[in-house]
Amino acid sequence: MPLLEVKDLKVHFPIKGGILGRTVGWVKAVDGVSFSVEPGQTLGLVGESGSGKSTIGKAILGLVPLTGGNIFFDGEDITRYIGKNHSAYRKCVQMIFQDVYSSLNPKKRVLDIIAEPLRNFENQTKTEERYSVDELLAIVGLTPAAALKYPHEFSGGQRQRIGIARAIALKPKLIVADEPVSALDLSVQAQVLNYLKDIQQELHLTYFFISHDLGVVRHMCETLAIMHNARFVEFGSRESIYNNARHIYTRKLIAAIPDTDPALRDANARQRQQLADEYEREKEQFYNKDGQVYDLKEVSSTHFAAMPESSPPGGGDA
Ligand SMILES: Nc1ncnc2c1ncn2[C@@H]1O[C@H](COP(=O)(O)OP(=O)(O)O)[C@@H](O)[C@H]1O
Ligand SMILES: [Mg+2]
Repeated sequence: MPLLEVKDLKVHFPIKGGILGRTVGWVKAVDGVSFSVEPGQTLGLVGESGSGKSTIGKAILGLVPLTGGNIFFDGEDITRYIGKNHSAYRKCVQMIFQDVYSSLNPKKRVLDIIAEPLRNFENQTKTEERYSVDELLAIVGLTPAAALKYPHEFSGGQRQRIGIARAIALKPKLIVADEPVSALDLSVQAQVLNYLKDIQQELHLTYFFISHDLGVVRHMCETLAIMHNARFVEFGSRESIYNNARHIYTRKLIAAIPDTDPALRDANARQRQQLADEYEREKEQFYNKDGQVYDLKEVSSTHFAAMPESSPPGGGDA
């Protein structure tokens, strides 16, 4: 059974206008998205800014009202808990943010920051609490001395690790990581991603990993969803997405991954330009006349791409 199952999720935000603040239109942030994640797996969600990624993450955490669809966690429909304080669910699902600095209270010591969820949910003595905090710090590679410092005394990568320590304090089952390394230097990104992977193994965590960068998710995620204009354009195993992308938007994103090998850089830039031209020429085939993304069609049992009904059968993955 999947740990998380999302069915036909829609989140539309009202646009208010006039002095009466009437609803004059809607922003369709998420418009019919379905997926599931098995326990212990990582699903990567990739797409450009504004495509609706964070809104899906917030919907899973119950932080935005749903316009339509259902979310199941461990088989239970959690849709009815949205907006309510359902403590059992809130313990099971935690979020890691991109902008960790603004989510760490600068006036609080690391001890109090990491202990906050413990104080809300567990009845620990001060000694037990300090032991828990030291243990969490050790998991993310920080010493007990860190507990008595303040957030500004740490580097960006260390602060993100403090954010991770807080997120895992209650031993959640699912972590929604929203661009967890996007604000970090490249050299530090890899380190934080490695911590996330190790912790996943150790605590048997399931990740919903959001990124605008296909390069970042490559080493993190077995399965990928590519999002554009509030819908999934492609969904499938890592291999099918990187080696056999069907949707023009996915292909454009793959071409945009920077090449680390300097010898390949020129060829890479040429290929990127070719794909940008191809995208302009072919995009009508991949979106309907209103610019909307088609429904996903099966390419193979592990690969789905948004194609018009009339498109020839994919012929499966090579
Ligand atoms: N609370 C909100 N009210 C109105 N519009 C919103 C709200 N949150 C997000 N949006 C809009 O929904 C769209 C998707 O936003 P978001 O999910 O943050 O995208 P992403 O995380 O992919 O950058 C954007 O057009 C954004 O402006
Ligand atoms: Mg976002």
